[in-house]
Amino acid sequence: MPADPPLRVALVGYGYWGPNLLRNYMELPEAWVSWVCDPRPEALEKASTRYPAVPTTTDLAEVLADDSVDAVLIATPISTHHPIAKAALEAGKHVFVEKPMTADTAQACELVELAAARGLTLMVGHTFVYSPPVRKVKALIDAGELGDVYFITTQRVNLGLHQKDVSVVWDLAPHDLSILYYWLGEAATTTNVTGRACIATGIPDVAFINLRFPSGIIAEIQASWLSPVKLRRTIVVGSEKMLVYDDTENVEKVKLFDHGVDFQEPSDFGEFQLSYRTGDIVSPKVQGHEPLWLEASHFVHCARTGETPETDGWAGLRVVASLEAAQASLDQGGREVSLTGADSCG
Ligand SMILES: NC(=O)c1ccc[n+]([C@@H]2O[C@H](COP(=O)([O-])OP(=O)(O)OC[C@H]3O[C@@H](n4cnc5c(N)ncnc54)[C@H](O)[C@@H]3O)[C@@H](O)[C@H]2O)c1
Repeated sequence: MPADPPLRVALVGYGYWGPNLLRNYMELPEAWVSWVCDPRPEALEKASTRYPAVPTTTDLAEVLADDSVDAVLIATPISTHHPIAKAALEAGKHVFVEKPMTADTAQACELVELAAARGLTLMVGHTFVYSPPVRKVKALIDAGELGDVYFITTQRVNLGLHQKDVSVVWDLAPHDLSILYYWLGEAATTTNVTGRACIATGIPDVAFINLRFPSGIIAEIQASWLSPVKLRRTIVVGSEKMLVYDDTENVEKVKLFDHGVDFQEPSDFGEFQLSYRTGDIVSPKVQGHEPLWLEASHFVHCARTGETPETDGWAGLRVVASLEAAQASLDQGGREVSLTGADSCG
């Protein structure tokens, strides 16, 4: 039996993130990089220096007109995701688009429907869903190790690159939203957000995003480009155990604490009793694979087999709907905003 031919992909956008995608797709035996496309000749020069055999172009139309291209990988600014993805789907190409999928839910719905109508794969770059420690935490939650999850807090702060066109909510929170929705198997129903534009007028660089879930779980995401230290730390508190997922740790990224507080109702009119439990702290073994490589392999597999990606267009839409609601709350001084219609279009 001859092996399946590799999936021929074209990378669109070679700025900060594009080179990471290119490196991973170049290393995948199941993929073949046909083009790198970017309107900036200096970006293409960098790509050619690194990978001289890969053709480059400043013209997206040239890529889309190439019938040998099976799929387009989009790593361009958020405002360009929708027009590029739409053109690629209309040209019959499978699409991988970086997070967040689009700049609003109407655009996200259009892409979801277009991909479905054409029978094409649409996958969103929610990279952390493919990250081994994130998958380990999901396995622990699903196995009931933590008991009932009460709440989750997460910090994603560092002295980060200020984006010119979007707030820190759109830049950083897609990661945490996609992780939370993957872990919990449900999307938030309401959000309220406070934030502040400390440096550039009109572009908030710090935001505290509160979320409520149908199950009663609450979560808070702290996102900021202003912090003296880099924190990528999430705490999950359950009725049985608690855990810390720290993505800046080299080895012990996940730590499970057999800690908790047991409550005993008073047997008479006396005071209730609380007993504090501080047991073992265990760091489970986590695979060392690079999340981006796993993500790239998954996209290639789905495009070749027609399997639905774990982070498909609907997952992308749920995150975009949450970001839209979070931005609305931020714009209205922290008012609680409902998240409805994230699972349907039209
Ligand atoms: N998954 C992750 O962990 C992760 C990390 C960082 C960035 N990202 C995402 O990657 C995307 C790109 O971010 P970045 O930081 O690399 O941005 P960037 O501004 O550094 O690079 C964007 C590149 O796209 C090019 N470009 C702009 N318009 C284009 C068009 N119409 N056609 C082709 N190329 C075009 C620009 O010239 C630039 O080279 C964003 O969606 C961002 O959210 C994802």
